[in-house]
Amino acid sequence: MTKGQWSKHHPIANTKTIITRAANEKRFNQRTKVIWITGLSCAGKTTLATGLEEKLNKSGFLSQVLDGDNIRMGLSNNLGFSDDDRKENIRRTAEVSKLFLNCGIITICSFISPTIEIRNLAKNIIGENDFIEVFLSTPVEICKKRDKKGLYAKAQKGEIQNFTGIDSPYEPPENPAIRIDNSNLTPDESIAKLLDFVLPLIRCLNQQ
Ligand code: ADX
Repeated sequence: MTKGQWSKHHPIANTKTIITRAANEKRFNQRTKVIWITGLSCAGKTTLATGLEEKLNKSGFLSQVLDGDNIRMGLSNNLGFSDDDRKENIRRTAEVSKLFLNCGIITICSFISPTIEIRNLAKNIIGENDFIEVFLSTPVEICKKRDKKGLYAKAQKGEIQNFTGIDSPYEPPENPAIRIDNSNLTPDESIAKLLDFVLPLIRCLNQQ
């Protein structure tokens, strides 16, 4: 059976889930979105994502972070950083996000997702209305200074290939839902900025 044919021939694939997204949103008292954070390595994406998750949790929202730590260690552990592998990493992540979305769970994705094409792929899988693009626009010079693992230095010496911002491109989003430059912000300030933006999108209409 060739790629993509399984769903046409397998009856379960076309079966509707019994519990609808709307029912789960009602149960969790939240509207579901995928908060997609893009930016360079060491821009502070994971800090922002986990900080947002913590704040949401304290306010009673149910969310899940997907990032390099949990996706590249497991689901994408056979992938590297070629264009095709990054595309596949993001495709898998977007498909998982869509499952969470349909389960009524807010999903916070933190991936370099370096090109417009790659982010469009994610947006098309997730759906335009549910894909909230957050551009963490920390300049590369600041990312290099924050790089505790020395990855930028290694890439500059040629010890790592295809490193984003060194010998692999990063295309900034043209029209992100929100842009955060954390060069002069504390992590708490960046998280508060994102939280303020996200809350009106995920609150149910009956919530303050
Ligand atoms: S993505 O391009 O597919 O979206 P992803 O966000 O999952 O990348 O992983 C990025 C992390 O992998 C970086 O923060 C860095 O720690 C590590 N990494 C290892 N090799 C590379 C590379 N060649 N380019 C970018 N990041 C790399």
